[in-house]
Amino acid sequence: MQFKILPGGAMSGEARVPGDKSISHRSIMLGALANGTTRVKGFLEGEDALATLAAFRAMGVHIEGPEHGNVTVHGVGLHGLTAPADALDLGNAGTGMRLICGLLAGQTFDAELTGDASLCSRPMGRVIDPLTMMGASIQSAQGGRPPLSIRGGQKLRSIHYELPMASAQVKSCVLLAGLYSEGCTSVAEPGPSRDHTERMLRGFGYPVRSVKGVISLQGGGSLQACDIDVPADISSAAFFLVAASIAPDSDLILTHVGINPTRIGVINILQLMGANITLQNHSEVGGEPVADIRVRSAALRGIEIPLDQVPLAIDEFPVLFVAAACATGRTVLRGAEELRVKESDRIAAMAEGLSTLGIINEVLEDGIIIEGGTFGGGVIKTYHDHRIAMSFAIAALRAEDEITVLDCDHVATSFPGFDSLARSLGLQIQAEAS
Ligand code: S3P
Repeated sequence: MQFKILPGGAMSGEARVPGDKSISHRSIMLGALANGTTRVKGFLEGEDALATLAAFRAMGVHIEGPEHGNVTVHGVGLHGLTAPADALDLGNAGTGMRLICGLLAGQTFDAELTGDASLCSRPMGRVIDPLTMMGASIQSAQGGRPPLSIRGGQKLRSIHYELPMASAQVKSCVLLAGLYSEGCTSVAEPGPSRDHTERMLRGFGYPVRSVKGVISLQGGGSLQACDIDVPADISSAAFFLVAASIAPDSDLILTHVGINPTRIGVINILQLMGANITLQNHSEVGGEPVADIRVRSAALRGIEIPLDQVPLAIDEFPVLFVAAACATGRTVLRGAEELRVKESDRIAAMAEGLSTLGIINEVLEDGIIIEGGTFGGGVIKTYHDHRIAMSFAIAALRAEDEITVLDCDHVATSFPGFDSLARSLGLQIQAEAS
């Protein structure tokens, strides 16, 4: 499937984008490990979260749905999972693989984790290392890549782990293994990363301490089922925050968006660039802050992106690069080497697409320099990365000619229905068979 987008257009209306991917994964995992029945609403019915759901079904958890975002998880307790008959296939999902790896390290049975070509090229040494220190037994393919074979029946010991990079996936993996370890497991972060695991564990009645960047928990407790209301995903809303900012005459409201402080880098960065974004109707659902976000067209200016915002906007850089290309002047991003090991090398993939559309840019080892300019038209390679695909679709709002975005099937991993929602708000996008 590919997208064809006509140039120009304005974005207006009101929309609720699909549920948060990070929270959806975790709702299945913690729901499965809890005692009792967890009811989830607003669950993201995207391929990544569905792969996690299927993995827990394969480990004997009875899960009803999803139906219109409603999922009921009949928890089996921390020690109730059973051996899966086959390898667990996490598809494209790094979060699914890294968090489940932590859980599997503490089980009594053996299991294998695999995924698609993109996931099987991503580094897993970052979770294998701390888990091995805890006493887990994990085999990988060459270079610490999936598939992973995890040997059950290992007695885990608690560790203190200094994270070498700001990564919520590694942090969460170690904490989840810590549930199965004797004593206190703690993780020190070099900077804040998304804290959904900590918040949700507390929601399930499991004590977690966070003090000055050190997160710790005691093994051997239990989780009590609770209801979860998944907010709309700020990472999906980000495409429309940029869209309405760069398209003239736009005025858009995105409702019930999760605005967890560890996720709002995209709002902070766009506001520094001069975006007209306001938050209204603040509330809190299940320990996560949400709000409606109003965004109107604005003249953006290039900035040096503050280093402390990088982990808080890590998934939103592809579309922020589109904003930078529409800004006056130069935007500089540094300290973002993690972008090279996402679903694709996002620095390389975005630089290539920006160049195709006539935007001057310079690739850095850990970032990029983008000169504001004018998009022409062209054919864009996505490297099968959902966020690269959606970012270049948004670029068409300010292009002089038609843009074709190749290989867009992976958009369904995080944002099913992106093209129809974008069309209803004003993007002249068509999906067609490729
Ligand atoms: C995620 C953490 C981030 C993010 C990913 C989701 C999570 O990855 O990029 O999309 O749900 O924990 P890293 O932990 O690798 O930074």
